[in-house]
Amino acid sequence: MLLYTFFGLLINNFAVRELAPGGSSWYLTDTHIHAITPDYLAAFQNAGGDPSGFPTPNWPVQGVFDGLDTTGSTRAVLSISFPGIPIAGNGESARELCRKTNIFFGNLADSYPQKLEFFGALPDWRDINGTLDEIDFLYSTQKTAIEQYHALVFMQPGVMEVDPFFISGFLPQPIVDYPQQTTRAAVDLVSSGVRSRTPSVDLILSHVGGTLPFLSQRVSGILIIPEIGSHRNVTATEAEVQFRQFYYDIALSASET
Ligand SMILES: *[C@@H]1O[C@H](CO)[C@@H](O)[C@H](O)[C@H]1NC(C)=O
Ligand SMILES: *[C@@H]1O[C@H](CO)[C@@H](O)[C@H](O)[C@H]1NC(C)=O
Repeated sequence: MLLYTFFGLLINNFAVRELAPGGSSWYLTDTHIHAITPDYLAAFQNAGGDPSGFPTPNWPVQGVFDGLDTTGSTRAVLSISFPGIPIAGNGESARELCRKTNIFFGNLADSYPQKLEFFGALPDWRDINGTLDEIDFLYSTQKTAIEQYHALVFMQPGVMEVDPFFISGFLPQPIVDYPQQTTRAAVDLVSSGVRSRTPSVDLILSHVGGTLPFLSQRVSGILIIPEIGSHRNVTATEAEVQFRQFYYDIALSASET
């Protein structure tokens, strides 16, 4: 069982491959399509499955094209989902899994140049050197494209160490807890001052930012109160601006309710 104990958060970062120029007309790009590459699937199976409680689906690439047809989208930007590369730990074998995953993605994108792009997978963020190496690889060797690279980062949530781990003892964490985790991670990036130090990084939050659209004003409001605000690295006004500067994908937002 993997434990992610950074305030109960796992932040999966994905650097993006630069999108090729797409001509003059507008088209939709779906930035939230997960892929399960062969090496990633093998690592999953070695670890005994997905710790979030979610079943692992089959992943034929045709499913991506069918999905694009359903939503009228032209292009897909593929990414891996939780548990991400940390499923293989945070040592050398995880770095290898990461590299193989990105090479697989690169080849797939080359095979369907008008259709597929990808967010490069990154190792466990606590493997700092491995993460920095992989970012360099993505932006140089793979000509794909963080502050110095003006990266576009896609933040996909993972499990939270909460108790009880499953709501009602059985609901997989992606159902309710993942969007909450995105909210916590986004608020942490702003209130810790990380966003102030990384103004060139564009960041896409999954699932409309979880509950951030409802809660962002509550967060910036509390920063005005001296007992709380003295711990912060941003002003309330800066926080409001930074919450607006995230990109919010629309996954999970389309139900009638
Ligand atoms: C990370 O890389 C730096 C520079 O190459 C090196 O000095 C440091 O020991 C490395 N850290 C780890 C944990 O390997
Ligand atoms: C504020 O930024 C400093 C410098 O990066 C950091 O050490 C500190 O932990 C930050 N404060 C909070 C509340 O995150």
